[in-house]
Amino acid sequence: MAEKDLSQGTLVLVNRDHAYDPELPQTVSVFDKKTQSYFVKDKILSLREDTADALNQWMDAFAAESGKTDVNIVAGWRSYDTQVRLYQNAVNNKGQEYADAYLALPGCSEHHTGLAVDLDTYNIEDGTSGGFDGEGAYAWAVEHAWEYGFIQRYPPEKSDITGIDYESWHFRYVGLPHAYIMQAENLCLEEYIDYLRNYSFSGEHLTVTCLGTSYALYYCPKGQMIVPTSGSYTISGNNVDGFIITIRKP
Ligand code: DAL
Ligand code: ZN
Repeated sequence: MAEKDLSQGTLVLVNRDHAYDPELPQTVSVFDKKTQSYFVKDKILSLREDTADALNQWMDAFAAESGKTDVNIVAGWRSYDTQVRLYQNAVNNKGQEYADAYLALPGCSEHHTGLAVDLDTYNIEDGTSGGFDGEGAYAWAVEHAWEYGFIQRYPPEKSDITGIDYESWHFRYVGLPHAYIMQAENLCLEEYIDYLRNYSFSGEHLTVTCLGTSYALYYCPKGQMIVPTSGSYTISGNNVDGFIITIRKP
């Protein structure tokens, strides 16, 4: 694995200390791929394909459960220039403190990865948006997000660690079993990436069963990559210093 591979995969950590190149991800139009269970802001909004597929499953399940099809996806992949504009608008209109609480610095937004979505609600009767507070009928979507590989990335009790205030609307795709472990252990992504460093190829692996599938995980520092010789596994860089290998057990 090369240095550039550190920024490949669903477990990349992107925050104020770990930037991400917005040119990297290959994305697809959500409008072109989406099911009828939700809205998307426009035809241009794009996500990584794995994230768009998981979003379809999550929103289909939410619609089947709640009868609601009014979730509107209002942000997906974002360019560096868009983040500059959003950050500057926030500084100009709401002040520096607000901007730093809710907007990542350009180059440091998860939206650059194509793995993050912002949810809103859309009232088709009058064209207004209602926000996404994750409460009432929408609580189901938040509670079950992990089953589809999503996490609420900026929980209120973790803002000292994430550096961002509570965002009820911002979800990040990390995939399974990661979303499950993070939920079960109450870890935000910064904490999870640290936690995984406790598990190495030659030491104990992190084993977990979720939704009927068993997994074993371990971390390899960059330059010391060891992968299984057979079986089904994925590799993700952490965008910091190494890789996480996730083995799916037969
Ligand atoms: N609102 C999130 C933190 C972003 O700007 O990426
Ligand atoms: Zn967001």
